[in-house]
Amino acid sequence: MAIDKVDLRSDTVTRPCASMMQAMQNAVVGDDVYEEDPTVIELQNTLSKMTGHEAGLFFPSGVQSNLVALLTQLGRGDEYIVAQNAHTYKYEGGGAAALGGIQPQPIEENAAGVMDLHKVEAAVKADDIHFAKTRLLALENTIGGLVVPLEYMQSARDLAKNHGLHYHLDGARVFNAAVALGRPVKELTSMFDTVSVCLSKGLGAPVGSVLVGPESFINRSKRWRKTVGGGMRQSGLLAAAGLYAIQNNVQRLSEDHALASYLADQLRQFDDIDILRGDAQTNMVFFNLKSGRYGELLEFGKSNGVLFGGRKPVRMVTHKDISTEYIDVAIERLSQFFS
Ligand SMILES: Cc1ncc(COP(=O)(O)O)c(C=O)c1O
Repeated sequence: MAIDKVDLRSDTVTRPCASMMQAMQNAVVGDDVYEEDPTVIELQNTLSKMTGHEAGLFFPSGVQSNLVALLTQLGRGDEYIVAQNAHTYKYEGGGAAALGGIQPQPIEENAAGVMDLHKVEAAVKADDIHFAKTRLLALENTIGGLVVPLEYMQSARDLAKNHGLHYHLDGARVFNAAVALGRPVKELTSMFDTVSVCLSKGLGAPVGSVLVGPESFINRSKRWRKTVGGGMRQSGLLAAAGLYAIQNNVQRLSEDHALASYLADQLRQFDDIDILRGDAQTNMVFFNLKSGRYGELLEFGKSNGVLFGGRKPVRMVTHKDISTEYIDVAIERLSQFFS
């Protein structure tokens, strides 16, 4: 089959495979607002068990799952500490501030892609009427395609606990991190109070995230999920895709990671390209252009069927619907731009 388009914009662009569609078609469903959908319940139980948490709640999106985690644990005038480029700060429409009166305290990441914990500690505000109340520390794993080291997450947990902060993980791609480290995902997730896991990224489901945490927290978060419009009815159709993804698409993430390394190696042949952050640790490759021709490259890619994130730096993401042949086609087309 001739390759028409190579879509490297994100791992969210995957299409459900025939077996996943079959699983959706066969799903036994009920009204999940009444908590009567057996497939949703199975997905929630499966993910909470895998991640080492008491309970789970199915959401239509990762943004909503992160938002409800914040709304449930924080109130007006509270704040959470978060990395400057974290999704929960930069890419979620300021939802916690808009809907919950919750202020973020962003902290610039260091060269390793994480917040310096001394800066985090310095940002925890004293109990003083002039200040917002610092109530939560949020991490993201993977962040910018980088795996957050286990020791870092443990130190951050200790810091959070010493200061009485809730500890939340945006684990949109935490299975990528677990596969890259060769560890059970539970080792990366059970130390957090709450974790949001996405099914619609590298795992290849069309939609959905699961928020996990203590049972009392999950019970309270059901009210906020309803308030923000996330109560769904026969959502077992979607949960079936999520279950299929968890059962079949976790180990294969290592193929995406290998492909990202291959892509980085191929891109190195172009003098204009400066690959960032060493080798691709998971499924993302970032690079700068010495010539600064970002706009031109993006436009060239679009008109030649090679799609990627064009902001500086350029981001290319491998996923289930990409193989070596696709990367070869992309490189061949891009070589016309760089020649
Ligand atoms: C790290 C991270 N967190 C959360 C989300 C939000 O997920 P969704 O698009 O399902 O709302 C994304 C989306 O790409 C993400 O990359």
